[in-house]
Amino acid sequence: MYVIIRTILIISAMTGLLAFLLSIANRTIANYGEKKMMINQEKEYTVDGGDTLLTALIDNEIFIPSACGGKGSCGYCKVHVDAGGGRFLPTEAGYVSEAEQADGVRLSCQLKVKEDIQIHIPEELFNVKQYDYDIEFIKDVTPKIKHLRVHLPDDNEINFKPGQYIQILTPKYKGNREEVYRAYSIASAPNDKKSLELFIGYVPNGVCTTYIHQLLKEDDKLTIVGPYGDFFYQDGDREMVCIAIGTGMAPIMSILKHMRDNNIDRKVTFYFGARTRDDLYMMDELEELQKALPNFNLITCLSRPTEACNWDGEKGRVTDLINKFLDNGPECEAYLCGSPLMIDAVIPLLKEKGMPEELIFYDKFE
Ligand SMILES: Cc1cc2nc3c(=O)[nH]c(=O)nc-3n(C[C@H](O)[C@H](O)[C@H](O)COP(=O)(O)OP(=O)(O)OC[C@H]3O[C@@H](n4cnc5c(N)ncnc54)[C@H](O)[C@@H]3O)c2cc1C
Ligand code: FES
Repeated sequence: MYVIIRTILIISAMTGLLAFLLSIANRTIANYGEKKMMINQEKEYTVDGGDTLLTALIDNEIFIPSACGGKGSCGYCKVHVDAGGGRFLPTEAGYVSEAEQADGVRLSCQLKVKEDIQIHIPEELFNVKQYDYDIEFIKDVTPKIKHLRVHLPDDNEINFKPGQYIQILTPKYKGNREEVYRAYSIASAPNDKKSLELFIGYVPNGVCTTYIHQLLKEDDKLTIVGPYGDFFYQDGDREMVCIAIGTGMAPIMSILKHMRDNNIDRKVTFYFGARTRDDLYMMDELEELQKALPNFNLITCLSRPTEACNWDGEKGRVTDLINKFLDNGPECEAYLCGSPLMIDAVIPLLKEKGMPEELIFYDKFE
């Protein structure tokens, strides 16, 4: 018995000593002191050496996209490093191609600032801000999708383009030990600068969607960073083809509302796919939009209609709809949103139909 207790005490003491030495090492060896971070050759910041570049940027309220919360698993936090980035890390290789690497692209959440650093980022990222929204409502619109409307207090406003997305800062909660950002497309119209609407689907065990679906209450605040994204409505006269499934409807809604609010009467067809009738949502709003936009046509399909659906509309997937209805591809441009699988199936089909590749815009919800 005495031997067991003595062994436990020795192991505990050694573990404690090791932790102590590691914390000293962290404060000394990994302490690089203050460093200079120069952005776009004009804005200079003093940052804590040893932090990741992503942390250094966020500490200075420069919010670049970071959908995985800095885990190196989304590839969103890329920046161009002109000098001082140190060697390229194996953890960056999955998301930075060789050509990008040669061009100085780095994953900012992996790279630690150990010397003065010079980077450049798109100028519009300086407009990205963090906002604390009040919640106006959280509604179930299907068994798996919640519709949120959030409102900015005081005289705060947000400017965004129709089709762009924001990131929700998910707080720590029981079962989630760290704050994470997740991307959600804006479903509301850009002319409403005080509010945002979002459609958020439930992902089993998902960090953010569990928070939104099970924990968030209407009297809570929601921290949002944005806007982001190069998927947005393009001015022009071409006929528009919008294609979405599930929550992919969100940015298309924003685009259609923008067209309504600005009396844009381009021809636009929205192909929307769902599994069953229960998964169709916002149909009343889309009907209202059809009344307001004489050249807007909505075509829905169900991929798994049951008898209970009592459905005599189109059956199958959105790819079936495109095959059936789209006959003037070369004259159109397309806006695609939803699962990567759907988008990867639709793009080749649109190209086959003659749509120019550079006019196929999409946001993959990955
Ligand atoms: C530009 C952009 C816009 C987006 N817009 C929306 C939007 O408007 N509405 C919306 O609901 N989502 C949207 N997403 C997806 C969203 O950002 C999250 O990825 C999703 O909500 C899951 O987050 P989570 O934290 O709950 O799950 P995580 O904790 O990130 O994931 C948990 C697990 O589920 C897997 N997983 C993640 N997403 C899915 C999924 N969709 N289906 C099945 N498995 C999944 C992950 O691989 C992981 O294994 C968008 C994504 C991007 C990149
Ligand atoms: S934040 Fe996701 S890879 Fe860097």
